[in-house]
Amino acid sequence: MKTRLGILISGGGSNMRSIANACEQSNFPAQISLVLSNNPDAKGLQFARELGLQTSIVDHRNFSAREDFEQEIQRHLIKAKVEMVCLAGFMRILSPFLVGEWQGKMLNIHPSLLPKFRGLDTHRRALDAKEKTHGCSVHFVTTGLDQGPVIAQSAVPVLADDTTQALQARVLNAEHLLYSRIIKQLCRQL
Ligand code: GAR
Repeated sequence: MKTRLGILISGGGSNMRSIANACEQSNFPAQISLVLSNNPDAKGLQFARELGLQTSIVDHRNFSAREDFEQEIQRHLIKAKVEMVCLAGFMRILSPFLVGEWQGKMLNIHPSLLPKFRGLDTHRRALDAKEKTHGCSVHFVTTGLDQGPVIAQSAVPVLADDTTQALQARVLNAEHLLYSRIIKQLCRQL
């Protein structure tokens, strides 16, 4: 039986698309059961629909309390019989409620070599710090922002003439390879 994934996105959804591509392989141990976005205008939602994936929108602006927003997300995840949650560019901080519901079964991909550069604007900060290497990390989600246990990382070189855009593109390529590889590994163990 394939593990049922719920992918949470807020934007372009390129990680979601690369996971969807991986799921096309017959020997991949997971399938996408739901793509959920807090942002109704997320480009990734359109791609998900084109791929024939089930989508949900839970717009955080419609909720005055964070827990009500997360209860609604949880309702959608349960309805879609999701077994593992993958945050893929989901730009809302989660409270102990949702994190607690998915302990050990919620992953995030972050565009830095954690513990370096938690939070936003990681590529600009890596350039400012004159890092020689940068990259991405897949980690379990805990209540501390980008602080959960790191499962795996992928490093890329920082080039002398790098712009944030060039570095971001190089890291994003590495993200696409890393996330599917780790999902494959973890789902085989479930
Ligand atoms: C990715 O670089 C991801 O690592 C990052 O947002 C981008 C989403 O791209 N996530 C975070 O910064 C989370 N703190 P995508 O929508 O094309 O997958």
